[in-house]
Amino acid sequence: MVSFTSLLAVLAATTSAVVASPLELLKERGIQPGTGTHNGYFYSFWTDGKGSIDYTNGPGGSYKSKWNNVNNWVGGKGWNPGPPRKVAYNGTWDNYKVNSYLSLYGWTTNPLVEYYIVEAYGTYNPSSGTTKLKTLEDDGGTYDIYRTRRVNQPSIQGTATFDQYWSVRQQKRVGGVIDVKKHMDAWQASGLKLGSWNYMIMATEGYQSSGSSEINIREA
Ligand SMILES: *[C@@H]1O[C@H](CO)[C@@H](O)[C@H](O)[C@H]1NC(C)=O
Repeated sequence: MVSFTSLLAVLAATTSAVVASPLELLKERGIQPGTGTHNGYFYSFWTDGKGSIDYTNGPGGSYKSKWNNVNNWVGGKGWNPGPPRKVAYNGTWDNYKVNSYLSLYGWTTNPLVEYYIVEAYGTYNPSSGTTKLKTLEDDGGTYDIYRTRRVNQPSIQGTATFDQYWSVRQQKRVGGVIDVKKHMDAWQASGLKLGSWNYMIMATEGYQSSGSSEINIREA
């Protein structure tokens, strides 16, 4: 999540458990998470409840979002499970001046991994403070690979210790094709092991910001 440490600090004040993902936060609080299928695509929409978000699933793999003065929200469409397919996406995401990500985001299990392929981000670079492991080329761009570690944190499988893998595109963009297998292979070549695919969505995320997006994904 964007500025996750800060988010956790906020959450720690209101919940007894520290939380690993938005979806899990909802479960912790006993709130029904906003996940399901729409027009043949899996979707997930989560908010921690502050500010207002208008998230709307559209035709096919499309969705629209508009958020105002949120603390943290994330949502998007994709697949569950999300095997290593080629994902094409297009749309508008113009949140460079606020704290937001546009990323292909998902989980694997056994091992449990939370991963991000970040296509564009705003004022906060998610790789801040971490060490670059490797780079990879995909669809005319260069991605920097990072790993971060979460210790004894809740996850899609309850409290666990797990890694977060990151591919962060140096040339920010909104629209193109992501060859997920390329990223997966580069991660594994760097010793970053993956497990069975859980969900994977083309996610818009906002953290302490206001913004909007309109995104369409499909299999390339
Ligand atoms: C994506 O591209 C298609 C084809 O050009 C277009 O019809 C659609 O409106 C675009 N989607 C978004 C969200 O901009």
